[in-house]
Amino acid sequence: MRLDIWYIALALLFLLAGEVFGEWMARSHDHSVALVHSHINVIGWASFALFGLIHRAFPALAGSVLALPQFVLAVASAVFFIGGMWVIWAAGDVFGAIAGAYGLMAATVLFIIMFFQRVVFAK
Ligand code: HEM
Ligand code: HEM
Repeated sequence: MRLDIWYIALALLFLLAGEVFGEWMARSHDHSVALVHSHINVIGWASFALFGLIHRAFPALAGSVLALPQFVLAVASAVFFIGGMWVIWAAGDVFGAIAGAYGLMAATVLFIIMFFQRVVFAK
């Protein structure tokens, strides 16, 4: 599985979703969900595109056993986090967003480990 391609493909879909959401906010003058919009864009678009480009720049990362778990955890957590922020706005329940936030932090730690093992300290 080409994780560089998949990260960038997903990032493009998040960008479109973020733009549609932003346009809806602008048109409805309802900015109360701006945090959902901003995180679709900064996590889904910007961070995922960067994960994809970093994978592309350092192909050795794909050889790590952590690469696929990191990808699956990051994507699932982003969905929980962004969906959970919407649930906080709609219903006040914080569980999904907190689970997503810890998942995203864990996915970041996995990426850091991969980068140090496969790039920084690579022979
Ligand atoms: C069609 C494209 C877009 C539209 C129509 C749009 C629209 C909006 C609107 C209406 C707000 C609310 C402003 C407020 O209440 O303060 C907002 C906030 C924000 N947007 Fe977008 N946006 C778009 C694309 C993007 C993209 C591509 C990014 C990031 C890569 C982005 C990042 C943000 C951020 C970080 C905020 C929060 C800013 C703050 O809290 O002051 N947006 N956007
Ligand atoms: C686990 C990951 C993350 C968590 C738990 C988180 C949480 C939050 C929270 C609670 C706020 C609201 C702050 C406030 O209004 O007082 C916020 C705002 C913001 N965050 Fe994040 N964030 C995360 C990841 C990121 C990432 C990766 C980026 C950028 C690449 C980012 C960019 C921003 C920006 C620009 C704002 C202000 C935009 C706005 O008010 O709509 N966040 N974040």
